[in-house]
Amino acid sequence: MESFKSKPKIHVRKARSTDHEAVFKFCEKTWSWGDYIPKVWDKWLKEKNDRVFVATIDDVPVGISHLSIDKPDEVWLSGARTDPKYRRRGVATAITKKCLEYARKKGAKVARLVTESDNIAARTLLQKLGFKQVAEFVEMKMEKITEEKSNNSRWIEENETEVSWVSLQNSRVYHKSAGLYTVLFHWFSLEKRDLERFIKQRKAILHMNDEGKIDGLTLTEDATSSEWCKNSIQTSYIDGDYEAVLDMIKFLKGYCSAAKIKRIYGFTCNYKPIITALERLGFEPPETTEIVYEKSI
Ligand SMILES: CC(C)(COP(=O)(O)OP(=O)(O)OC[C@H]1O[C@@H](n2cnc3c(N)ncnc32)[C@H](O)[C@@H]1OP(=O)(O)O)[C@@H](O)C(=O)NCCC(=O)NCCS
Repeated sequence: MESFKSKPKIHVRKARSTDHEAVFKFCEKTWSWGDYIPKVWDKWLKEKNDRVFVATIDDVPVGISHLSIDKPDEVWLSGARTDPKYRRRGVATAITKKCLEYARKKGAKVARLVTESDNIAARTLLQKLGFKQVAEFVEMKMEKITEEKSNNSRWIEENETEVSWVSLQNSRVYHKSAGLYTVLFHWFSLEKRDLERFIKQRKAILHMNDEGKIDGLTLTEDATSSEWCKNSIQTSYIDGDYEAVLDMIKFLKGYCSAAKIKRIYGFTCNYKPIITALERLGFEPPETTEIVYEKSI
């Protein structure tokens, strides 16, 4: 007879579209507002660089996790969920290990993910799995977008890519951010070619000091408009001291006001001078922070 304490046999496999009913059911009450898994399920199962794994016990789906291959050597993990009835039995541990094994086979060298600072279950699990906390971010929001006057901020020109990249390499905030930028709720390594793309798409703002040197950089992204809230924008990366950030965000507010953008999601690494500047300009601070974890694989 199976003893009460014995661990159930957990099997992990690639998700099938027919798993959706069981998965959506156990995700119904993940958070007080529900869950986003039903919204992304079809896309996750279809995309070439995405993979969803499902854990089953006696052939019944009891947990999921998702990974996306962002660059040849980096993967992003998200959507770890265990049916509340099957928690603390090793389900998420088994799926995460499978994700890491899959990522390794695909040639990835590093896996990352984000969790809320108050998610003790996830943070304990990650520590046990050998993930290290590499950076802390906050998501601030602003809806009253008023016209502001900036002095020394403007869009970066394409011929300024190299000088912007050099200033980034020497930046304390870049290192504090673990060299990462955000799109929606997903963090990527900020490499030279990424900066180049932001600049080409006119989504990169700089701040010049009195000596004509770059001492501030802000990257923006508008994917929030199609994914989260119409007529919105986010900051993907903010770098600079209090004064530089204040001026760049005034410039961004001026742009948003002219472009009729109604909401700015201010994503930034948790660095006091930047947070203070954002608060001063009307951004609301969050209750929790976002912790990005990393594991070499
Ligand atoms: C986080 C979550 C996926 C963990 O799933 P799980 O299948 O219960 O995790 P495991 O059984 O593999 O846990 C492994 C270890 O993590 C730690 N852990 C898991 N849940 C914990 C909790 N509620 N409190 C403290 N530690 C916990 C323990 O050290 C545990 O080992 P132990 O049970 O032997 O002590 C699950 O709680 C969940 O679905 N939460 C809601 C969604 C969520 O927060 N997802 C993560 C977003 S980043």
